Amino acid sequence: MSAESTKGLPNRRDFLTTSAAVVATGLAAGYPTLAAATRPTSPEPFPGAADATPHRVIIDTDPGVDDALAILLAFRSPELKIEALTPVAGNVPLEFTLPNALRLVEIAGRSDVPVAAGASAPLIRKLVTAAYAHGENGFGGVEFAAPKTKPVTESAPELIRRIVRASPGEISLLVLGPFTNIALALRLDPGLAKQIRRIVFMGGSLSGGNITPSAEFNIYVDPEAAHIAFHSGIPMTMVGLDVTRKVQLSDAHIKAIEAAQNPSAQAAGRILRSTMNRIQKMTPGSTAGPTMHDSLAASVLIDPSILTMEDYFIDVETQGQLTAGETLGYKRFPIRRSPPLELATTPAFGEKQATGAVPPASEPFHPNAQVAIQVDTEKFFRLLVGRLTA
Ligand code: BDR
Ligand code: CA
Repeated sequence: MSAESTKGLPNRRDFLTTSAAVVATGLAAGYPTLAAATRPTSPEPFPGAADATPHRVIIDTDPGVDDALAILLAFRSPELKIEALTPVAGNVPLEFTLPNALRLVEIAGRSDVPVAAGASAPLIRKLVTAAYAHGENGFGGVEFAAPKTKPVTESAPELIRRIVRASPGEISLLVLGPFTNIALALRLDPGLAKQIRRIVFMGGSLSGGNITPSAEFNIYVDPEAAHIAFHSGIPMTMVGLDVTRKVQLSDAHIKAIEAAQNPSAQAAGRILRSTMNRIQKMTPGSTAGPTMHDSLAASVLIDPSILTMEDYFIDVETQGQLTAGETLGYKRFPIRRSPPLELATTPAFGEKQATGAVPPASEPFHPNAQVAIQVDTEKFFRLLVGRLTA
């Protein structure tokens, strides 16, 4: 399926020229202002243990081994009410992530939850996948029966829009893949940003990447889409590699999951065992198992005490030939941008004098995201294994 043929989605060539309203800060129009990013990241938006009202969540995802675990965890957590799954191309192409999402709702016994097809390619870039980590089918090579459940007829951006608009301020997005669907939803309806309660996402890093030295995979795949989300004014919670690198399952965890009899644990056990075997083939002698990036992001909506957060202003590099997808976190320092490229040239070398504005020496620091900086790994594993095996 091409990007152009994906139902309800725009022609990608048109995207950047027609999305100026959404990209109020401008990808190419000079220096982004912080105006859009002024909604407070505090107070703590997550339900406490005593809060009996489930947090209403749409899961945007590219399943994916760790996506599968996150989704099964979410379905088995009464703190959450899953409103929809919106698969996107990422770890593997949409032709796999869409049926995988449908299989997961069936495995969880929740075929009542709508699944809508999302984007089959990033906004303007070619899709890069991570089949090396997730297997060609996204489930570590484990084959499940074809799903009987069908996707809804709306596209992912349309479904996100409809659900959010029906309950303004109540719906959070749990984003476990590239931000393409989210950017498309905001393009479809620029007023939507103000009605989204929060975006919790797995992605980014303040301590180096996993697909390049500077970029984390989800942001690397579609940096323009992530840039739109970060500048949308929606409060963001970033669960990046800084913490997710620390949650690798052990063989004992996998054995405990395999021993449980419920369909979610059985499916998770098969996917994890196959992934563990693949890791051991690639890195003989390794004892570390699959990294639970996406489940850790889901866990913050279930038990916020698992992660320690700090406020940052996060921006995304979209221009760098080597660094696109890097997330930069401003904390103590005012935001300083790079000078226009032309300023590096001089008339002495026959170059024309730069005419672009020199970036201001400083812009005040306004956080747009809570960033997870520490994780209680034991508490997380207790939650994940406990919920899957209960
Ligand atoms: C992220 O990229 C994907 O491979 C995983 O599913 C996770 O969402 C980790 O960088
Ligand atoms: Ca993912």
